[in-house]
Amino acid sequence: MSKDSLSIRHNRTGKTVEYPLLQGTLGKETVDIRAIHKDLDCFTYDPGFTATASCKSHITFIDGDKGVLLYRGYPIEQLAEHCNYLEVAYLLMNGELPNATQLQDFSLEVAHRSMVHESLRNFFDGFSYDAHPMAMLVGVVGSLSAFYHSELNMKDPEHRRVCAVRMIAKMPTIAAASYRHSVGKPFVYPRLDLGYCENFLNMMFSRSSPNYIDPNYSVDPIEKKALNLLLILHADHEQNASTSTVRLTGSTGANPYACIAAGIAALWGPAHGGANEAVLRMLKQIGSVDRIPEFIARAKDKDDPFRLMGFGHRVYKNFDPRATIIRQTCYEVLENSNRQDPLFELALALEEYALKDEYFIERKLYPNVDFYSGVIYRALNIPEEMFTVMFAIARTSGWLAHWLEMMADPSTPIGRPRQLYLGPEQRNIIPIDAR
Ligand code: SDX
Repeated sequence: MSKDSLSIRHNRTGKTVEYPLLQGTLGKETVDIRAIHKDLDCFTYDPGFTATASCKSHITFIDGDKGVLLYRGYPIEQLAEHCNYLEVAYLLMNGELPNATQLQDFSLEVAHRSMVHESLRNFFDGFSYDAHPMAMLVGVVGSLSAFYHSELNMKDPEHRRVCAVRMIAKMPTIAAASYRHSVGKPFVYPRLDLGYCENFLNMMFSRSSPNYIDPNYSVDPIEKKALNLLLILHADHEQNASTSTVRLTGSTGANPYACIAAGIAALWGPAHGGANEAVLRMLKQIGSVDRIPEFIARAKDKDDPFRLMGFGHRVYKNFDPRATIIRQTCYEVLENSNRQDPLFELALALEEYALKDEYFIERKLYPNVDFYSGVIYRALNIPEEMFTVMFAIARTSGWLAHWLEMMADPSTPIGRPRQLYLGPEQRNIIPIDAR
């Protein structure tokens, strides 16, 4: 076997085939087994894609053993310290950080595209007041495809770029409208004079209405900073479940807004972006520090469905660098709001207890990005049902960066996995009266 290839020998036929080992800029060697079906007449079996690279990408790199996360080569710690969310969104989509003029133009374009079509407001009336905001988000974002379909030429890079910017711009407006609908308050229109995070907080919490701007509402700078940080930390994470869903949907040539709606649906599950909401519910269920051992025992018990939400990760087997940054921010935000959050104290105690436990040590289970994000959102007065919506706002730039990358590559095939069939062999129908 040569140094940069991998040989596979079929034991029954004795046929040996060599497959090239590809080396990316960073990360593990990856064997290109695309020809295995033709060469050996077999498929590979990898449910959950635990060892499968589904695409080539230039956007995000993770070293799960070392706790490294890079967007376009920049460490997440540096981006979190020096950038605003729109700078990061621009970086993810374009490959380079913007200069001052580019950032100003991009921010202005986002602000100008933040309004939604007036008819879109009617969609919200179709939802019950107690509909989950994620349900509204999936529906309303999907419906954008009905508003911006005719003018879209997916083969034109400028059309695709506009589509991506439009989505990033409208997501906070739709997200805030979902919240306002759920509490029966009038929608607040986006304002051109406010930045991305400030605008979102204003649309969520000011007493404004379509005809009135609340002169008494102003966004707390520490809260704005915390929101900006959370959006950056959640912006992209290479081929996670929702991004892979966006890519798979997009590979069929589907409308991009429908692709993002598919990503939102995938994000919603508690094993993925829904974990931040589930963490808060779990902390409330545990209730007090003295009950931690009982719940740790339940999390370890295979007969009990209870798992520690916000713990574990498919890729990080040391620590999630985003969780480290978020934990520190929790202290700052809580100090700023002058309040002690018993759930934060409980989360800290739970983390300490779990990290000393042999079960979690052996399986390399650490707090992930969403273990502490809910505590910050709580301090920003964002209700629990909105936590995953917040994740979706942030991840929109990542989803679109991947969609743009995929659409720009003419060699992208439609996503079409194979299967290991275990159903009945071919058989004949027995007439109904003889069954
Ligand atoms: C996100 O992929 C991404 O990049 C996602 C994300 C992103 O930015 O896009 O980072 C965002 O989705 C964060 C993850 C949020 N989910 C949770 O916090 C839910 C709780 N965690 C898990 O359900 C789980 O850890 C996953 C889904 C995150 C990872 O699952 P894997 O990689 O398939 O691991 P596994 O389920 O095979 O677990 C391995 C072992 C098992 O035990 P054994 O069978 O080996 O005995 O660890 C155990 C699991 O039972 N285990 C847990 C556990 N997570 C895994 N046991 C108790 N509590 C847990 N949370």
